[in-house]
Amino acid sequence: MKNRFNRLTSKEWLPFQKSWFKYDTEEKLLTENIRFFIREDETEEKVFYYGDNAELLSNICESQNVGLIKANDFNNEALQYAILDLRNSVNSIKKISDYQKIKEETINICIKIFETLAHRRFLTVLIPNVFVEDKYMPLAWDLAWQLSSIFSLKDEKIACTNEIMSLKTKDNHKFIPNNKIFYCLYFRKDELSNGIFEEKKHRLFENKIQKSSNFSFKSTIPSWFILKPQPRKKNEILHPAKYPEELVTMFLQEFTTENANIFDPMSGTGSTQVASLKASRNAYGTELSPFFAEIAFGRCSEIVAPKQTDLFQSPIDNKFILLNKDVREISKDDFPEIDYLITSPPYWDMLNMKGAENQAKRVEKGLQTNYSDNTEDLGNIADYQQFITDLANVYFNILDIMKSGSYLTIVVKNIKKKGKNYPFAWDLSDILMSKLILLPETFWCQDDINLAPYGYGNTFVSNTFHQYCLNFQKP
Ligand SMILES: C[S@@+](CC[C@H](N)C(=O)[O-])C[C@H]1O[C@@H](n2cnc3c(N)ncnc32)[C@H](O)[C@@H]1O
Repeated sequence: MKNRFNRLTSKEWLPFQKSWFKYDTEEKLLTENIRFFIREDETEEKVFYYGDNAELLSNICESQNVGLIKANDFNNEALQYAILDLRNSVNSIKKISDYQKIKEETINICIKIFETLAHRRFLTVLIPNVFVEDKYMPLAWDLAWQLSSIFSLKDEKIACTNEIMSLKTKDNHKFIPNNKIFYCLYFRKDELSNGIFEEKKHRLFENKIQKSSNFSFKSTIPSWFILKPQPRKKNEILHPAKYPEELVTMFLQEFTTENANIFDPMSGTGSTQVASLKASRNAYGTELSPFFAEIAFGRCSEIVAPKQTDLFQSPIDNKFILLNKDVREISKDDFPEIDYLITSPPYWDMLNMKGAENQAKRVEKGLQTNYSDNTEDLGNIADYQQFITDLANVYFNILDIMKSGSYLTIVVKNIKKKGKNYPFAWDLSDILMSKLILLPETFWCQDDINLAPYGYGNTFVSNTFHQYCLNFQKP
């Protein structure tokens, strides 16, 4: 039975739901999007298109019995789908004023599209983040914010390409990961959107301290990567959200040298410390849960014997210090000055959500599903705004023990909860950019999880298989 939304079978529906994909050809990208968001009906559906590939799209539309309306020819016709391709337009951005202009023009086009787009139909925006006047600006996130006052922001996919997109800068000492990505942002006209642009409600990423970073980089990191981590050992499985040591090792090579001091304020099972010690770096950190702190301490002790076995009183000249403490209670005297911070925080209170697929599996195996029931655990803060504010303050406080010019990598994910989107990665960056310089983000693309048919026959809901590695520098 073909479904109401786009007539695809469940087998055809599933592959489109992966939140990242390898970008091969333009034809494939456009064909897949058109096929997903239009209905193959007797009646011809109409697609609005803004971009540089009108000829290619015209052929695709013809073969799929879809009408094409190019932006220049648009005369308020009824629309069933719209594509806005800004990938080439952003190449003309030289100054902040150009950046503003593109944003304003895009907003105006979107208001027009909204007027004639059918109810519950989609708009796809193809867009990268950019460098403007040598500073890295998250245009994609900024526009997503702005446009979500007109449409409902439903989802994002990451297009992983081997081409050089728009992250061009003359200076090769900038941190510019060596493959490139662009964003496919998905908006819907629905009961929660009214087509009215309300700028004041939304924060602007450009009102930040964004400066060009003045340190030189090796740029060994690609902007997207897939990891094949070692299977987790028995004690590591006890933690519900561990990241692979291989990820840490990769970032250590880019941002640090031997004997550097590495810090993770929420150490969990000590993956950061284990990878750091193995790479001849010094490893420091805190962890609230005594249970996980113990595991982390044990793992580190297998690599480097601590000079003192007391978890709480390790002397400063140790290769590693792991405190079992609320990160908000650490003081300047607890650790030496830090060269690099790499960490992953709780993803809001998502582990307390009953029924999530991996939660059910852990319950079945009798494993812990959240970090703790401790009220000091940041993963137990129910209010989203409170959570991101508290988390940002954690990082701001840590800046006191970090060297000037040092780097931070924070691994996070945008969140979907009860049908609503919470762009955690973007919201956190927005706050952090008031004190830190944002560098290009990199993506850990997960390839080892089964796809689930969320929203089948009803609406587009991706399986979020990409994690943001947000990179910052302390000025
Ligand atoms: C995503 S996990 C980190 C996992 C870690 N990267 C690993 O690979 O094992 C987040 C950790 O933050 C800890 N945490 C939550 N609130 C904290 C707080 N206030 N102070 C210190 N740690 C906290 C949790 O106990 C949890 O282990």
